[in-house]
Amino acid sequence: MKRFFLLLIIIALTLNLKAEDGYRLWLRYDKIDNNIILQQYRNAISSIHFYGSSPTLIAAKNELLQGLRGLLDKKIPVANTISNHSLLVYTKSSSVVALHTGIDYVALGKEGFVIRTILAEQKNIIVITANSDIGVLYGVFHFLRLLQTHQNIQKLFIKTVPNIQNRILDHWDNLDRTVERGYAGISIWNWHTLPDYIDQRYIDYARANASIGINGTVLTNVNADALALTKDYLVKVAALANVFRPYGIKVYLTARFSAPVEIGGLKTADPLDAEVQNWWKQKADEIYQYIPDFGGFLVKANSEGQPGPQSYGRTHADGANMLADALAPHNGIVMWRAFVYDVRAQKSNENFASPENKIDPNKETENIASPDRFKHAYNEFKPLDGKFRKNVLIQVKNGPIDFQPREPFSPLFGAMPQTPLVMEFQITQEYLGQGTHIVDEDPLFKEVLSIGTYEKGKGSTVAKIIDGSLEEHTVSGMAGVSNIGNERNWTNHPFGQANWYAFGRLAWDHDLTSEQIAEEWIKQTFSSDKHFIDVAKKIMLMSREALVNYMTPLGLHHIMGTGHHYGPAPWVSNAGRADWNPVYYHRADSAGIGFDRTATGSNALIQYKTEVSNQWNDVNTCDEKYLLWFHHVGWNYKMRSGRNFWDELCFKYYSGVDSVKWMQQQWNSLKNFIDEERFQQVKMFLAIQEKEAVWWRNVCLLYFQTFSRMPIPAIYEKPDHTLEYYKNLKFPYAPANPS
Ligand code: GCU
Repeated sequence: MKRFFLLLIIIALTLNLKAEDGYRLWLRYDKIDNNIILQQYRNAISSIHFYGSSPTLIAAKNELLQGLRGLLDKKIPVANTISNHSLLVYTKSSSVVALHTGIDYVALGKEGFVIRTILAEQKNIIVITANSDIGVLYGVFHFLRLLQTHQNIQKLFIKTVPNIQNRILDHWDNLDRTVERGYAGISIWNWHTLPDYIDQRYIDYARANASIGINGTVLTNVNADALALTKDYLVKVAALANVFRPYGIKVYLTARFSAPVEIGGLKTADPLDAEVQNWWKQKADEIYQYIPDFGGFLVKANSEGQPGPQSYGRTHADGANMLADALAPHNGIVMWRAFVYDVRAQKSNENFASPENKIDPNKETENIASPDRFKHAYNEFKPLDGKFRKNVLIQVKNGPIDFQPREPFSPLFGAMPQTPLVMEFQITQEYLGQGTHIVDEDPLFKEVLSIGTYEKGKGSTVAKIIDGSLEEHTVSGMAGVSNIGNERNWTNHPFGQANWYAFGRLAWDHDLTSEQIAEEWIKQTFSSDKHFIDVAKKIMLMSREALVNYMTPLGLHHIMGTGHHYGPAPWVSNAGRADWNPVYYHRADSAGIGFDRTATGSNALIQYKTEVSNQWNDVNTCDEKYLLWFHHVGWNYKMRSGRNFWDELCFKYYSGVDSVKWMQQQWNSLKNFIDEERFQQVKMFLAIQEKEAVWWRNVCLLYFQTFSRMPIPAIYEKPDHTLEYYKNLKFPYAPANPS
């Protein structure tokens, strides 16, 4: 008997552990915990009618059945005759033509869908319909989301169409399964066991992505390995493509520009060489034999040591167009990255001789060799506008430098009207606490998307450039560098899932607010308890600003440790290239701090439309959150708060830490609202976040104090270590950059 009970306890514990290990993401489908709503839903859905049997529709049907069984804790019958409260799921081409009346299918396009309550033959029914099978699948996921978030489904009238065509996750996964800037374990692609072993995780990955509208995945790192294009790998890629296809997800690969030499045996990879062009054509033909709906290539060229057309004296357009021509017969696209700041920038190394880290930005002027890395992408790509093939998209990071906690938008948005631009966000938290900090990235994404570029006057937001509506481009895209690994819960930090979720939802509909997205995610992932939602949402919505404050307030940027990018190291001045050094960016000296990018400095502001640069040009009117991005500000400069700059800097750093402490308290108050496992995980991560926030604050203030020579106001606790102590810290365990 004793044994029996022990067994029961063990089983109960195992089930409990399994239940909330985070693997199910936002697709948990647990029974609705509000009896009134549960009853309403049960009443509203009495049977299901599913028309069609393609793999996508089967996936949709299975998802719907699985979801409803869990959420309603009831098996809903699949029926043939329509009765009151039936749920009908069908595409335009199905036989239930009578129900097409009143639905504007033209407006739905390829992927949009409608969910509607209609009255037909005295029966109250719900329809989910679309032009295509994939539209139906998206509709099913949306319907399940309505139930998971306890929405009223009495009178549904939903029509939604994605803003952006290509909504893509970029995996920086290497073939040896290490993940560049990945903080959630190794790559989920097991190249060793593919193509024969199909891990359930691949299917669940596809489900999760489809549920938020992601329709593309770049499987391999931008620091590419040509081997991925060999037959050995293509059969493995094809196996993944087969799994993803029913979920509307296309696969893409990164193309290493020197592949014709490395795996093709050619002597050159010159894009104007006929043999090279032919090699890529044949390679594309071969790829499409394995993967008929292959999406295309993502390319990092002539950037951070990657080969590219400039190695042969050719332009980025020459390189991109050659690949585009190879893919065009198969309808493939090229996403060519604008993250370039190669070779010529190294010249400015000698600028670092001075003890005060002074750089004269006027040394080299308005040309490509400018020492201001900020300007490189624009200088290289703006002149190429209009020179790319129709199936080339230029992929631009959200800011001009590199995914910093806050950057002004990249001046390329608004400067290349003839070229479709893909927004590249970084979901993985390379510069945002590296997988142990809660940072809801949605406000960051929204901040960039909603800003005005003035490309065509007022209202020309970045979002409108990306979605193609401003210039009426026929192709559009948004990419997010993935934060997924093989950790059981996919992202390591439970709140990392929120950033994957937010990316997908925004790529589908960039008008959604951060509040809406956070609330949806919390309800589906944790709980629909009002108090829990309110508190968790507050934590999420303030988290990004808190991080900016304890890491890089007031426009500071790129002052992290070299290589691994873990923690603060504002003193570093000996990195391999001038523009890898923190001192290059903060330019602190006895007079002040910040990078003068006005006409008296590097003049990077000239790359924006006047309406934009006017907002930032004048130190006295520049939004203080961007101040040090554009101005070298005196330590005594009077801020809008009335404090001098130094005191304001102290205030920001201390309030950043205070915010994290507040987040901890708030989280602790939620202990009884969710499962113990995830509660504890987040609690432990918050303790790391607090420790690291204090570390950032202390280091930065102690270091900048050596220039300001001003005291940290007495109201604040004193840093508990010296600057020397911090400088001597080593981090052999920091997640490295494996490529
Ligand atoms: C950052 C990151 C690199 C990455 C690069 C890129 O610099 O640290 O690891 O390769 O961005 O976007 O290409």
